[in-house]
Amino acid sequence: MTRSDPPPASEETPEESDAPPGLDLLIDSAALAARVRRLALELTEAYEGRRPVLVSVLKGATLFLADLVRRMDIECEVDFMSISSFGSGGASGIVRIEQDLSGNIEGRHVVVVEDIVDTGLTLQYLLRVLAARHPASLEVCALFDKDVRRIVDLDIAFRGFSIPDRFVIGYGLDHDELYRNLDALYAVTDIEALVQEPARHVPSFFPAAGSGR
Ligand code: IMP
Repeated sequence: MTRSDPPPASEETPEESDAPPGLDLLIDSAALAARVRRLALELTEAYEGRRPVLVSVLKGATLFLADLVRRMDIECEVDFMSISSFGSGGASGIVRIEQDLSGNIEGRHVVVVEDIVDTGLTLQYLLRVLAARHPASLEVCALFDKDVRRIVDLDIAFRGFSIPDRFVIGYGLDHDELYRNLDALYAVTDIEALVQEPARHVPSFFPAAGSGR
């Protein structure tokens, strides 16, 4: 079931002139806010009277979750999980639960709120774990979808943006724990340079920042 089609091309089109050197602006803050509002509306309509539990995966999805629930007009709960992946970039699909949900989801309507789905391996594992706890229903709401990279078949009922196969930062997404607090989504043009110097874009965004440590 897919409730939302990919957004219009205009929402995905880079406006590169607005980005600091080495980054392309993929989705600006206004487009993010508009899309989150629409997803919240879709969830509101779908879950009216069912008091869903929105399960967010730490840490990247927290900004999205916070904006999403504030736009939802129904009773809902939030809960959190922390997981870690093994293998290069999580490519093994082996995931360990570092911190589990605080509540029991048996018989509940559960929506997994994800920041980004890439290969889909992490989400596939998580869905298996949650399904084994017998929720009444289990769906996914993912803001960014790198669908060209998908290697497992996943049903994303509520989807924000289809994005290209590029490494992205901002709006919750990090590199080496930095850049989560950017209010737009940026694609990194030179990932090797960023790996060598994780803080290379910090002066562009936070000119007053010192070393930070
Ligand atoms: P998957 O298991 O390959 O789908 O990987 C999903 C996880 O990889 C996400 O929850 C992110 O933590 C991370 N990830 C994938 N692509 C990106 C990216 O472009 N920027 C930041 N993190 C990413």
